[in-house]
Amino acid sequence: MVDAPKYVNEKVKIGVWLTNKRSSGKIAFLQLRDGSAFFQGVVVKNNVTPEVFELAKEVKQETSMWVTGIIHEDSRSKFGYEIEIETIEVISEAHDYPITPKEHGIDFLMDHRHLWLRSSRPHAVMRIRNEVIKATYDFFNDEGFIKIDAPILTGSAPEGTTTLFHTEYFDRDAYLSQSGQLYEEAGAEAFGKVFSFGPTFRAEKSKTRRHLIEFWMIEPEMAFMHQEESLEIQERYIAYLVTRVLKNCEMELKTLDRDPEVLKKYTILPYPRISYDEAIDMLKKGGFDLEWGVDFGSPEETFLADQFNQPVFVINYPKAIKPFYMKPHPTRDDVVICADLLAPEGYGEIIGGSERATDYNYLYDQIVKAGLDPKEYSWYLDLRKYGSVPHSGFGLGLERALTWLTGEDHVREAIPFPRLLNRIYP
Ligand code: 4AD
Ligand code: MG
Repeated sequence: MVDAPKYVNEKVKIGVWLTNKRSSGKIAFLQLRDGSAFFQGVVVKNNVTPEVFELAKEVKQETSMWVTGIIHEDSRSKFGYEIEIETIEVISEAHDYPITPKEHGIDFLMDHRHLWLRSSRPHAVMRIRNEVIKATYDFFNDEGFIKIDAPILTGSAPEGTTTLFHTEYFDRDAYLSQSGQLYEEAGAEAFGKVFSFGPTFRAEKSKTRRHLIEFWMIEPEMAFMHQEESLEIQERYIAYLVTRVLKNCEMELKTLDRDPEVLKKYTILPYPRISYDEAIDMLKKGGFDLEWGVDFGSPEETFLADQFNQPVFVINYPKAIKPFYMKPHPTRDDVVICADLLAPEGYGEIIGGSERATDYNYLYDQIVKAGLDPKEYSWYLDLRKYGSVPHSGFGLGLERALTWLTGEDHVREAIPFPRLLNRIYP
C-alpha cells in the first residue's frame, strides 16, 4: 500500500491484516495494515454481496485476508488513501489477539514484542531505523569510506573489563564485542577511511532509559585525521541523518507526533563545542554539586544539552574516566583528546569518539595501567609499530540516536527485540 498513489481509482488485490473495525447497519470500516502501511477499508452493504458484508462485520483483529477493491484518495486519513472493498477472502482467522486497541502496560507489551511490532508506533520507529541505516551507508560511502566488518567474538576489551560478556571459545576465553573500534583502526591503516556497523554488547548492570545490553553501533575510523576534522564529519553525519528522516519519513514522524520543525533545527551546522572544564563550570553554576574529574550521568548531560538548541560536543574529558586508547593532550596530562556528542531534549550522549594514541610506548603503558594483558593486544600495538599515523574515530549508538530522532522516551523502543537487564525474551 505504500505505492497506493500509483493505483488511485484502480482495482487492486492486497494481503492485509485487520487492526480494528467499526460498523453500522449499512457500512463497515475496517482498519487494515499490509505491512507497509496502515489504512482504512470501506465496505458498503449495498455494493457487496451479503456474505462479504457479514464477514466484514464479524472478522476478528489480526485475521489475515485477501481483499480486492478500488483505491481512493482520502484526505482525512494520515495515510491519505483508502480502499473501497469489493471482496474479502480470509487466509487465516485470529482469535483473542492479546494486544487490543485499549492501553496496555509496558511489561505486557514487551512480553508480546513479537506481536507488538505490528502496531503503528513500533512500526513507524522501525521504518525510521531502516532509513537511518540506509542513510548511514549512503553517507559514508559517498564520503569515501569502506565498510570493514569487525568480529563479534573477540579477545579484547576496548571499553573496560567491567561490562564484558564472557563466553567460551573452544579451549579458551572470549568476549562478545563491546566495540569494533580496535579492528577499525587496523582497517583505517589499510583503507584510509572505514566504518563498521554491527551489534555490540555491554553487560551493564544499569537499568536506565538509555542502556541496552545489546545495541548496534556505527564506528567510523579515519587515518591522517585529527579530532577537529572528525568532529566535522560527526556533525555532518548527524545533520544528514536528520535531513534524510525529514525527507523520507514524514508519515512516520506524524504517527509518532514528532514535530519536524524541532528536528529541522538540528540540520544547522556547526554544533557548539565546549570543553569538559567549561561543562563543569556550567554545571556548578547550575547548582550541581560536583568536582572536576567526575563522569557525567543523565542529569548532567541533560542540563548541559539544555543550554544549547542543538547537539553539543563536550571535548577533552579527564583521562582517568576514559579508555586507554585515547590520545593524550599535548600540554596537559590530565585530559585526553576526545569528544562526546550530547543530543538535545534530554537524550544524552549519542556519540563517543576520540583521536587515538599513536605512540607505541605510551599505548603499551596505558594497556598495562588498564589492567589488560599487552600480549593480547600485540596485534593492536603493531599498528603503532608500522607506519603509525594520526587517526580519529567515533561510535554512534544507533538506538540512542533513534530514540532522540523519533522522540521516544526509552531506548528499548528503538530496537526490534531489546535485550535489557531483565529481559532476553522474546
Ligand atoms: O562511548 P562508547 O562506549 O564508545 C565506544 O565504544 C568507542 N569505542 C566508539 C569509537 O570511538 N569507535 O559508545 C559509543 C556510543 C555511545 O555514545 C552511545 O550512543 C552508545 O554507543 N552506547 C550505548 N547504547 C545503548 N546502550 C548502551 N549500553 C550503550 N553504551 C554505549
Ligand atoms: Mg561514551
